[in-house]
Amino acid sequence: MARLELNHVSYNYPGSPGPAVDDININLETGRFVVLLGANGSGKSTLARIAAGLLKPDSGEVILTGFQGHPGWSGVGMLFQNPDEQLLKHSVEAELAWGLENIGLPPGEMHSRVREALEEYELSDIADNSPDTLSDGMKQLTALASLAVMRPAFLVLDEATSFLDPYWTAKVRRKVRQMSGTAGLLWMTTDAEDAVEADRVLGLKNGRLAAEGTPGEVLQPERLEALGIEPVADWVGDDEV
Ligand SMILES: Nc1ncnc2c1ncn2[C@@H]1O[C@H](COP(=O)(O)OP(=O)(O)O)[C@@H](O)[C@H]1O
Ligand SMILES: [Mg+2]
Repeated sequence: MARLELNHVSYNYPGSPGPAVDDININLETGRFVVLLGANGSGKSTLARIAAGLLKPDSGEVILTGFQGHPGWSGVGMLFQNPDEQLLKHSVEAELAWGLENIGLPPGEMHSRVREALEEYELSDIADNSPDTLSDGMKQLTALASLAVMRPAFLVLDEATSFLDPYWTAKVRRKVRQMSGTAGLLWMTTDAEDAVEADRVLGLKNGRLAAEGTPGEVLQPERLEALGIEPVADWVGDDEV
């Protein structure tokens, strides 16, 4: 089992008056689905980049242990809020193959993984299409599939559904939950609905952890209000979880 630990990580943007991320501890392991809820500006994207190894914290450390993957790849993937930042290739299929080429997977295994993922994510019919021509929902699904084929130990998601309509939101949520069977997930979001089926919910406020518990505990309307997060529609508390 792999573990991803954030130990006392802090980050201050140069010239800003206070830290964007302030002394955060998070423990994640394979198969755990953790949602981090925070309002705009609370530090989610900064923390996501730190967790994914894209931004070095000013202090504290990020420790990844137990990943039995390919040399040259950390095993941590990140789904960006805006899929346009993630999709860079000329076709959906090339997008899925790209990361696997980079880690030097043998072509036979690469092609079979790509084919399987195209089917599983219902992208086969648009495999040759340019990502530029797709709807936002299909772009986000393509970005998610391109991470799934890598079989990451951990996946960090930064507001993965905020551009999507209800149909695509439901679809992406379903796929993300499926991935939590084999990967540890850390999902940053402003939408409390994304947290309903999480194993653990954390609340972020002004760069600090301000809440932690089960969905039944943290999704209480008054606790969400303290985080600056909209309540879950028709929330009935623990019974629903
Ligand atoms: N590139 C940057 N330079 C300076 N300040 C930034 C930069 N990016 C974000 N911030 C500030 O850091 C804080 C956290 O931002 P961010 O991590 O983007 O939060 P969130 O993703 O929750 O909206 C905010 O106060 C934001 O204004
Ligand atoms: Mg953000």
